[in-house]
Order: sequence, then C-alpha cells, then structure tokens
Amino acid sequence: MNENIIELDNVTKIFSLGVLGKNKIVAVDRVSLTIRSGEILSILGESGSGKTTIARMILRLIKPTSGTIKFNGVDIWKMKKWRDIKNYYMKVQGVFQDPYSSFNPRRKILDLLLDTVYNAFPELKKDKRKALEYINETLEKVGLDINTLRGKYPHQVSGGQLQRAAIARALLSNPVFIIADEPVSMVDASTRIDILNIFIDLKEKYGTSSVIIGHDYSLAYYVSDRIVVLYRGQIVEEGDPEVLEDPLHPYTKMLKESVPSIDRRWEKRLEYRIGEIDVTKRRKGCIFADRCPFKMPICEEKEPPLFKVGKGKVRCWLYGPK
Ligand SMILES: Nc1ncnc2c1ncn2[C@@H]1O[C@H](COP(=O)(O)OP(=O)(O)O)[C@@H](O)[C@H]1O
Ligand code: SF4
Ligand SMILES: [Mg+2]
Repeated sequence: MNENIIELDNVTKIFSLGVLGKNKIVAVDRVSLTIRSGEILSILGESGSGKTTIARMILRLIKPTSGTIKFNGVDIWKMKKWRDIKNYYMKVQGVFQDPYSSFNPRRKILDLLLDTVYNAFPELKKDKRKALEYINETLEKVGLDINTLRGKYPHQVSGGQLQRAAIARALLSNPVFIIADEPVSMVDASTRIDILNIFIDLKEKYGTSSVIIGHDYSLAYYVSDRIVVLYRGQIVEEGDPEVLEDPLHPYTKMLKESVPSIDRRWEKRLEYRIGEIDVTKRRKGCIFADRCPFKMPICEEKEPPLFKVGKGKVRCWLYGPK
C-alpha cells in the first residue's frame, strides 16, 4: 500500500488561442501530485480551474506543455511500444460528467460493453457467454443487474443507471486507477452518494484507486482520503479531509463557505468568479491576490510557494516564515 501509481511532476499545460496563437491560457500551472495505491484523491476547484485538463493529461489524451507524468515510475509520453501504451489505456480509465454523451446513442448498452470486453480481452470473442458473465459480475460491483440493461439503448435508462454502467465499462479492462471527472454533477441529487459509494467500495474491496474531480466541498469531504484544491491551474492547498475541515487558504475557505450556503461576508468581498477574470493574463505574485480579502504587500510581488503547515500544504504568505 501507499506506493505511487501516478506521479505528476511540475506539469504545465498552456493552450494557445486565436489564429496566430498569440493569446495563451495557462490551464494547469506547475502541478505536482501523486496518486497512491488504494486511495481516493479529490481535485476540487470551481469551473475553469484546470480540473478537466489535468484529467485529460492523466488519461494521455493531451500532452503537457512541460513536466512529466509517470505511471508506475515510467514517463507515459516516453512509452514507445504500442503494447505499453495500450496497457496504460487499459489500466488507467476515465469516467465523465455526462453519461449520455459517453455512450453511442445508436447502440444498445450491452453491445457497447461487449465491445469493451472484446477489445480488452480478444480471446473472449469466441465465447460470448463468458463475456456476458464477466459483464454481469462487473455490473454487480456497481450495483446494477444485467437484466436492467438488457435490450436497452442509453436513453432508455436513468442518468444514475447509465453513470453506473459507465463506471462498469471503465472497470471491464481491470484498471488499477480510475479518474472520474465530475461523475455526479449531472445525476440526480438523491443518487450522488450511492454513486460515490461505488468508488469507496472499489477501493475497499479491490484496492482500486480513484481521482474524483468535483466542485462540491461536502461530497469531496465525504469520499476522499486526500483533497487537492486547485485555483486557476495551481494547487493552492492540499491535505486530508480533517485538514480541510478547517481550511487555511483564503480561496479554500471561500469554496467551503460557498457550499451549501453562501457566506454574506465573502459574497461582498469576492467581486468576480473565474469566468470574469481575463484568463489570458496572469498577474505577478499570488494568483489569488485580485480576489483576496487578506492581501498583503508581499502578495503583489512574490508568488507564495506551497508551505507545509501541520499535515497539509498551503500556498499563501499568511502561513510563510514570519
Ligand atoms: N482545448 C482548449 N483550448 C483552449 N483553452 C482551453 C482548452 N481546454 C481548456 N481550456 C481553458 O483552460 C482553462 C481550464 O479549463 P478546464 O480544465 O476545462 O477547467 P475545469 O475542468 O476546472 O472547469 C479554462 O480557462 C479553459 O477555458
Ligand atoms: S498569498 Fe496573499 S493574496 Fe495570496 S491568498 Fe495568501 S494572503 Fe491572499
Ligand atoms: Mg471540467
């Protein structure tokens, strides 16, 4: 236990905008983090903070501008053999926000699951009965029965059921690690905890690690062993849920307060959300200084590093050397 499965070291992703690519967005800014075997890590942050970009880089769908991502110690962009790359795509699986857009609407769900099985285990192509048995076992892990899906197209089941099927599909290739990008934000509020419980169950029964991306502080608190808070591509605070019960960074405090009820004090002080900030411009000093009610002169000048405070880390001069 506790060995690192995925390691991000100083990972940056810059997108160029416009025909000439003159405007640049730093979507992910020098992020270092590790995902350990048998843990659930949450990445929290409001819209535009770079969460999906991190997921897509870990899934090897887009390449970092700089920095490295390692899987079991091997740089995923230095893998040369197709066999190693395919193994990575099997062992590291994604689950996305909208289950309806992640299943082909013109095909029956079970046929899509069969495709996944045949792709992962070509030898089962000769034995459909065995493949279906395997699908059934996997569906049971996510609380679904094969009969619920039999003959059905994606739009014929509920969002919660389809998201369970999406998790099952991710599990079919026997992954060691799942990255779930806002897996419960589009499902009915009443089934959110049930779906998050699947990830806890997978961790406890099979040691499957997960990264769960979200913006809901209380859900992250519920499901995670560790939480990383992201603001405009930078990690601003990290720690276990106990640490984040009483967060230190002004932004994390804001996130916590904004869910479920907005604290009036904060509402007055925070003039804008990320969407209203010009994302192509990055200021000198602390990235949160424009919104921070505790700003000091040093914050305008110098970027704070991640300071170790107790069991957590926080990127803020309030906690730096005095
Ligand atoms: N393909 C892209 N091209 C240009 N900008 C992008 C692209 N993908 C994401 N971005 C920008 O990067 C930033 C982070 O986006 P994203 O990772 O989707 O954040 P989140 O998932 O936290 O909402 C945003 O400012 C977004 O507009
Ligand atoms: S470093 Fe300064 S501006 Fe940044 S969050 Fe801390 S107090 Fe606020
Ligand atoms: Mg996103």
